[in-house]
Amino acid sequence: MKYDVKNLTLEEKMKLLTGKNSWELETANGKLPSVFLSDGPHGLRMWDAEKRETKKATAMPNIVVVANSWDRELAYLDGATIADDCIEKGADVLLAPGVNIKRTPLCGRNFEYFSEDPYLAGTLAKAYIEGVQSKGVGTSLKHYCANNREYDRFYQSSEIDERTLREIYLPAFEIALTAQPWTVMCSYNPINGVWASENKWLLTDILRNEFAFDGVIVSDWGAVHNSWKAVKAGLDLEMPYRDKAYEEIKDGYEKGYLTEEEIDARVQKILELMEKVENDKKVVATTKEERHENAVKVAHGGIVLLKNEDNLLPLKGGNILLNGTLEYMGGGGSAFVQTDYKPRSLKEELASALGERARVSVSNFGMNSELSLYGARNAYQDAYEKDAVILCVGNNAHIESESHDRAGIRLSCTQEDLILNTAKVNKNVIVVIFAGSAIDVSPWVDKVKTVLFAGFSGEGTLQAVADIIAGKVNPSGKLSETFPLCLSDTPTGDTRGDGFVDCYQEGVFVGYRWYDKYEKAVAFPFGHGLSYASFEYSDLEICKKSETDYEVSYTVTNTSRVDGKEVSQVYVRDVFAMVTRPNKELKGFEKTFIKAGESKRVTITLNARSFAYYSIPLKKWYVENGDFEILVGASSRDIRLTGKLKIELPENEQVTH
Ligand code: BGC
Repeated sequence: MKYDVKNLTLEEKMKLLTGKNSWELETANGKLPSVFLSDGPHGLRMWDAEKRETKKATAMPNIVVVANSWDRELAYLDGATIADDCIEKGADVLLAPGVNIKRTPLCGRNFEYFSEDPYLAGTLAKAYIEGVQSKGVGTSLKHYCANNREYDRFYQSSEIDERTLREIYLPAFEIALTAQPWTVMCSYNPINGVWASENKWLLTDILRNEFAFDGVIVSDWGAVHNSWKAVKAGLDLEMPYRDKAYEEIKDGYEKGYLTEEEIDARVQKILELMEKVENDKKVVATTKEERHENAVKVAHGGIVLLKNEDNLLPLKGGNILLNGTLEYMGGGGSAFVQTDYKPRSLKEELASALGERARVSVSNFGMNSELSLYGARNAYQDAYEKDAVILCVGNNAHIESESHDRAGIRLSCTQEDLILNTAKVNKNVIVVIFAGSAIDVSPWVDKVKTVLFAGFSGEGTLQAVADIIAGKVNPSGKLSETFPLCLSDTPTGDTRGDGFVDCYQEGVFVGYRWYDKYEKAVAFPFGHGLSYASFEYSDLEICKKSETDYEVSYTVTNTSRVDGKEVSQVYVRDVFAMVTRPNKELKGFEKTFIKAGESKRVTITLNARSFAYYSIPLKKWYVENGDFEILVGASSRDIRLTGKLKIELPENEQVTH
């Protein structure tokens, strides 16, 4: 190694364990290179200290959209594109991605997170990390762990039983860690009463030893309460700089609580990070214009067509009215990206995508903000006279943001009124939702023909939405989270903890696992998304490779006249379990491009973890002998093929059943 712990004084080493300022690492009096860390998941948010402003960068779609693409290649492209901005502007480590599970749709940061399902979240985060790091830029997998709401995020303890932690909240990290992120960021909250930053069980026993993470464990910004205790628990780097950090570490050392070996072990990780930063070749492969094109491409793949009665989309033509508000860039907080891209209006994008066949006009009346109507009577008159109406509704960076949760999941009354009243005078209403998380659509969804969930799709949103409405792009996104019928149907309802403790009493039943267990109807299930094409599933084969390794293959046929992509999903059900288990769990998926009229064979591999649950008495993942079902579906509630298998492990690997 170029940098050696032995060349540093004890004081330099202790000082190295906390930042130099808000974003940079210490340099041990110039002996070490400087390293710059910067947000965030949807593009670079880098502070320019000289100009005292945030640098401009490509605003990529929010992670919710990347997740809705169910597309590993797009997640990789997303990461690689952001990395190019990092290289150009001098950021060494990107503080992303976040894989916290969407336990409640109220969580203010859901737009930054992937899914309610750990397998989907981990798999796409892995691809994103590989994309960023392929360019020689590091990542920070965050927020480890169980930071699933913003309400009192600095103090409230997440109280979770170990099985739930192992099966729901840790696996997304575990899977993403196989991409070897350069850093992992611990969360603010305590877990079972111990701060994440001081939680030796989570940082050292699980993350370091069990999951074999060998990069830097960094604190979330301000998550450390006592520096020597954090170092002792296994935290390598406290961020940002804090006056007392050095004194606290020194105090711990002088009192004999912390040894020099322990300090050296943490410093070693930081030196290794510095070497990575220096050694990994950084090559910018895209121009600013190409990065914008990638933003549009990711949005194309992640926009979800939720409903499309009478094939209203793609729009055939005619006189089209646009109404509503447009707040589409992204959720608020540390993930908000400042772009200097000047988008064309949605009207211009639609006019260019639809060409001669349509005339698009914008209502001068309707909504001038998500909270107020303007000349509603005229808006409805306008709508009455048109062949179809596109209504843009949703949330914005104030409603969905870091630091606070949403108050509810319905649209504002104004938006709901606009939809309901427009639907009374025009039968061809297309609702386009801009939001970062699930919306309660039940008050109006039956009254409109078409609903498109655009998410927060960044600077390419308007072009992507217009391309899909016009049929230039066939939608292929599917929901990475359930849209429940109402908030009270969700596992946590409108509860939020008492400020001291948030008890995860629903256990492993989060997202579709919850709606399945209690047989609740939902508005749109996990995994749902329509295409302009139609797909048929056939010929399921389950091929045994070993007692717990299987290959599941099936044919997906595009039975329509348009090319399209289908996300097929494989769920596993333990039919007679000895413990309470979800009705089914996602264990594989594939997004496949299939030309009109053609078929493709899809193969998914399953392994021991696909069948296992975490056993508390055995302290390990355990596969129990017996019957399992393999469910292949177009969504979690649209299972097209079902197969069976029996696991028969040797007697000495089983408890007595
Ligand atoms: C957020 C992190 C972010 C950090 C630096 C924290 O408040 O939770 O996600 O990376 O600030 O901006």
